[in-house]
Amino acid sequence: MSTGPATGIAVVGCGYVADYYRQCFPLHPGLRLVGVWDRDAERLGVYSRYWSDRAYRALDEALSDREVAIVVNLTTPESHAEVTAQAIAAGKHVYSEKPLGMTTAEAERMRDAARAAGVRLSTAPCNVLGESAQTAWAAVRRGDVGRVALAYAELDDGMIHRTDYKSWLSVSGRPWPARNEFETGCTFEHAGYAITVFAAMFGPVRRVTSFSSLLIPDKRTEPPLPHPAPDFSVGCLEFDGGVVARITNSIVAPYDHRMRIIGEDGTLEMKEPWDYASPVRLRKSQQGRLGRMLERRFGAGFAASTLPPLRKIALRRGRGRPTMDFARGVAELAEAVRDGRRCRLDEDFAVHVTEVTEMLQHPERFARPAVVRSTFAPIAPMDWAT
Ligand SMILES: NC(=O)c1ccc[n+]([C@@H]2O[C@H](COP(=O)([O-])OP(=O)(O)OC[C@H]3O[C@@H](n4cnc5c(N)ncnc54)[C@H](O)[C@@H]3O)[C@@H](O)[C@H]2O)c1
Repeated sequence: MSTGPATGIAVVGCGYVADYYRQCFPLHPGLRLVGVWDRDAERLGVYSRYWSDRAYRALDEALSDREVAIVVNLTTPESHAEVTAQAIAAGKHVYSEKPLGMTTAEAERMRDAARAAGVRLSTAPCNVLGESAQTAWAAVRRGDVGRVALAYAELDDGMIHRTDYKSWLSVSGRPWPARNEFETGCTFEHAGYAITVFAAMFGPVRRVTSFSSLLIPDKRTEPPLPHPAPDFSVGCLEFDGGVVARITNSIVAPYDHRMRIIGEDGTLEMKEPWDYASPVRLRKSQQGRLGRMLERRFGAGFAASTLPPLRKIALRRGRGRPTMDFARGVAELAEAVRDGRRCRLDEDFAVHVTEVTEMLQHPERFARPAVVRSTFAPIAPMDWAT
């Protein structure tokens, strides 16, 4: 763990998620927010006044600020590449919200540009660095479930377009950006929460067999969406080490965010990747007749025990408060830069996750099954989880 002066960061994009990041920055004494920028002047004003943060007058001012080492790119997905490219060109390290780019080719260009400029590039999501995922991963390494064969992730979010999402406001008053979410697609928005965790545990993905569809084109927006993205996808991922994972994404089926890791001796289950305090449940395989009967009667969770979390998370709960430490990935990047070590969520990992995500959302762009070209070196667990 490094000590020394805090790393200066600038936030670009002061929208809905920026409020969640802003609440998490104080958890990390190694980060110092220097200033914020948004191309929407009104939004910039509201955000900077709410948080009493310094507002830059232009992106160039943020990028030429010598106190800033890392640009935290929280713009909308279609702006990610443009803002990240400018920050790299200005010699800044970048932590970007997901996806790194809207295509694998775009993500690869950013990785190459960062390498050529000698700066680091990292992306959200960072829930794999969270307490829940690290607790599950430690259990896998200990062999609690034996040899892992299969993993399932449900990322069904319910029929968002039929909810009262217009009343969803971040703490400084930004409405949840429904149109952009519907056009980016729930797979681009959410698949990374599962891919990152499984890839950290099982290594790079080698092949993807997927299906996606737009099941409800009319999301009742006014005006109608010109380019609604698929609202359902399902794919099977074959990992280098032989594990197979099935990942489902939708904004159609009822809310279910379970992640299950199935080994020959048992199953690990996490209820919610968006909550770092989500308990990890371990259930040993039922072999006897009584066990099978009880499983059929009471469901698979009847004989499960909760694993002690490796660490308690310092997030206060409540309305408008995050259940994920959004800033942990930024802190990881800052520490890696300060210590001159590899960042756990480095640019190879970011490209890999983007490529697999694109294969899930857009199977029509790839051969079937799609062969994943990108790869990454093994990722170390957090120091407190080893
Ligand atoms: N909304 C969520 O619940 C949520 C959760 C996790 C992650 N994310 C991710 O966070 C990112 C931002 O999402 P959001 O919900 O905050 O969207 P948002 O629309 O509320 O905010 C994005 C902000 O970026 C600004 N912006 C866009 N392009 C810009 C540019 N070129 N230069 C400067 N500012 C620019 C916009 O003016 C806007 O204020 C997305 O990548 C999204 O996937 C969102």
